[in-house]
Amino acid sequence: MRDLFDEIAELKRQKQAVILAHYYQEPDIQDVADFVGDSLELSRKAATTDAKIIVFAGVHFMAETAKILNPSKKVVLPDLKAGCSLASSCPPDLFARFKAKHPGAAVVSYINCSAEIKALSDYICTSSNAEKIVRAIPADRPVIFAPDRNLGAYLAKKIGRELILWNGSCIVHEVFSEKKLVQLKTRHPEAPIIAHPECEAHVLRHAEFIGSTSGLLKFTQTSPATKFIVVTESGILHQMRKASPAKEFIPAPPEANCACNDCPFMKLNTLEKIRDCLRDETPELAMGEELRARALVPLERMLAIS
Ligand code: 13P
Ligand code: SF4
Repeated sequence: MRDLFDEIAELKRQKQAVILAHYYQEPDIQDVADFVGDSLELSRKAATTDAKIIVFAGVHFMAETAKILNPSKKVVLPDLKAGCSLASSCPPDLFARFKAKHPGAAVVSYINCSAEIKALSDYICTSSNAEKIVRAIPADRPVIFAPDRNLGAYLAKKIGRELILWNGSCIVHEVFSEKKLVQLKTRHPEAPIIAHPECEAHVLRHAEFIGSTSGLLKFTQTSPATKFIVVTESGILHQMRKASPAKEFIPAPPEANCACNDCPFMKLNTLEKIRDCLRDETPELAMGEELRARALVPLERMLAIS
């Protein structure tokens, strides 16, 4: 394993590459990365890096976002098949028809969507700035929120504004069992439940804190509590444990007896694939300039607002 770490470090130096990793990556990948963050932080890093090659240890829409924001860089990803159920739940042709039914509405799309959906949007948001972005739109303008119905419903309730929701969701954040969560809380009453807003409303209503992966991590660092029930993909627990070794983190239980709170797409990436994509500079994220330019507009609006 050490050899692999050394090999990756050496390749990174030779190629002037940077490894960006999302919190849902396996612990070894997070440890080998130059930067680990949530979707917004990773977008900012991708936009400003001066490395020649960006290795994106995350999923396809994240690598696409890096390319849209920083087209002169070569963006490689460890596994081209690392997609996202939420992004796939919003096919561009169907979304274009949905949008046409609501002329005049502003389209806010969660960053977990394809470049084609970004190009059909007025604003992009992430889980850490969604509220700010929606609030920036005049109150009398209807808003379409896509593709995550759970984040959309959470925002609509929080802001007190009707949103026209696309019916998409994340398979990982919909596996949590409310019944098991309540039972767990009964056994650990002192542990706050903290959850990602991609979870369903019946789970979110038990959460003391709701936030992006970075938001959840920060909460565990600043809260006086010493034990937390964490309702999101299990990868984030690695950084929580590293940041607060004396605290205890309990992953919320999925409905079935499975490891389905592991994102199957995020977990396609391995250290070996990172080494290979650095060495071979492939698979590379390619995108036509016309699509990239259109997808850039709402992303830039997001970065300007947040
Ligand atoms: P954030 O890291 O922005 O909270 O997003 C979570 C996610 O679903 C990534 O797939
Ligand atoms: Fe997509 Fe859900 Fe995996 Fe995030 S956790 S990449 S939203 S499938």
